[in-house]
Amino acid sequence: MTPPTGTSKDPSGLSVSSQPATQDDGGNPLGLRNIDHIEFWVDDAEHWASSYEKCYGMLRRAYGDTKSGVDGKRSFVVGQGRINFVFSEPEGDGAAAGVIRDHLDKHGCAVRDVAFRVNDPADALSRAVASGAPQQSAYSENGGYCHSAIKTYGDTVHSFLTRTDGCVGTFAPGYENLPGGIEDGDINFMMIDHIVGNVEVMDEWANFYERVFGFKEIGYFDINSGKSALMSKVLGGTDGYIKMPINEPTGKNSQIQIFLDDNNGPGVQHIALLTSDIIRATAAMRKQGVEFLEVPDTYYDAVPERVPLLKEDLETLKRLRILVDQDRPDGYLLQLFTQPVFDRPTLFHEVIQRRGNSEGFGEGNFQALFEAIEREQAKRGLL
Ligand SMILES: [Fe+2]
Repeated sequence: MTPPTGTSKDPSGLSVSSQPATQDDGGNPLGLRNIDHIEFWVDDAEHWASSYEKCYGMLRRAYGDTKSGVDGKRSFVVGQGRINFVFSEPEGDGAAAGVIRDHLDKHGCAVRDVAFRVNDPADALSRAVASGAPQQSAYSENGGYCHSAIKTYGDTVHSFLTRTDGCVGTFAPGYENLPGGIEDGDINFMMIDHIVGNVEVMDEWANFYERVFGFKEIGYFDINSGKSALMSKVLGGTDGYIKMPINEPTGKNSQIQIFLDDNNGPGVQHIALLTSDIIRATAAMRKQGVEFLEVPDTYYDAVPERVPLLKEDLETLKRLRILVDQDRPDGYLLQLFTQPVFDRPTLFHEVIQRRGNSEGFGEGNFQALFEAIEREQAKRGLL
């Protein structure tokens, strides 16, 4: 069933619109509502679901496998706040499991799907394809779960979905809800702040998100830190909530090029998780064994001058190796970056807290971040 869109008659005879005010053909042509979930294709779904429970404060929300009706995979959905992460491993000998195994062989554990909830997955697909996006999955409806998908950079896809009727309150057909309990730990994430992709040609994909999604370029960075360098454009939805920076390498020693080599092509480089208390969250994550990129002591010497608005205790930030950047006169952000999560040194997470009207991505910290990544790569003998 296609969910209702556009105008319809209600019983009173008045014409009503079922679409939010944010959708219009210029600003939000696909009718995006939010990021629904991110699906990772991994070697061991149980292991990674448990790891994210322990290290990222996630709770189990749903489970499905081939016996319960999921095609070719076994998946755990874990989440916190508005974040849903799906860890799927191949199961059985069918074609769907084969596609996941091929993805694992090529990329290692990696993000497969950045899925959006939309007003109408059929309409989103037809509009995206009309704008030149390659189709991944035709529109389908199963028990009130309406779905379509397009391809984006590398082997990454974007699902468009809506849950209606009997599917509301469940993850998807074939998945059972799991009692995750009450979120009361110290690691508190509210939502995904941004999702960064590493590609070969930034402008190609910046144009893709502008043309297909109606995103606007809300930032541009050209970072040069010696051997490691990158260019980045930030593409964002008109509602300000969906932000997708795109990075391009500027040389063969660029850490972005090393990612492209390690990942066998473009893919999601990092997912930034928004917290309201980065000190509490990262102190607890460190206790759980999460390792973050190293930051030199000298980084903190310049912080009082760089971030006059700073409210946090500098010694606490230094102890936890939290980075800070004041991107506006009335706002600043705190952030730090984990070590790569999976088997290959590709995907990592950022933990971010915004204060005041912070809208940046830590541009002032790029230099510090890339110097830190270079040190990590140097340890592995790559620089
Ligand atoms: Fe980031």
